[in-house]
Amino acid sequence: MYRLVTTREVRYRDLDIWPGRIRVGMWAWLLHRVTGLAMVLYLFMHIGVISSILWGPETFDAVMAALKAPVFAAGEVLLITAGLYHGLNGVRMILFDMGIGVRSQKALFWGAFVLAAAGFAWTLKVFWPLIFG
Ligand code: HEM
Repeated sequence: MYRLVTTREVRYRDLDIWPGRIRVGMWAWLLHRVTGLAMVLYLFMHIGVISSILWGPETFDAVMAALKAPVFAAGEVLLITAGLYHGLNGVRMILFDMGIGVRSQKALFWGAFVLAAAGFAWTLKVFWPLIFG
């Protein structure tokens, strides 16, 4: 027995990926991806910086001196915050893979978020003199 199936136009704003409809779980995932990719980007930059020793100690020292600029200290605050969120949310996801805490996924996200925000505040306090002199 066949049934006639009619199709209707799928509107972008009806989908869960429409910005106004994104819910906690997807924000958690988006932040996880952005922070993961940011750390990979940092890793490549870090290898580049360390490799400057290949051009001799003077070049290495010059690169190190350039990295004392406030913008890099600010970048380190963001890197530490990204690592904190990614690690905490990573543990949250690993727990879900083991069947633990799935029903509390929103509360666990906010727990990870608040801890990462607290880490941001503390790191900013420590790095403040390096960023703002
Ligand atoms: C405490 C340390 C870490 C934990 C617990 C952790 C956990 C995880 C987990 C569970 C995933 C899979 C997410 C999913 O299933 O959607 C993931 C993805 C990923 N992680 Fe980590 N991670 C850690 C550290 C790192 C570090 C140091 C980097 C980079 C240098 C990194 C980069 C990534 C990237 C690029 C992805 C893929 C993101 C995506 O596909 O959305 N992670 N991590």
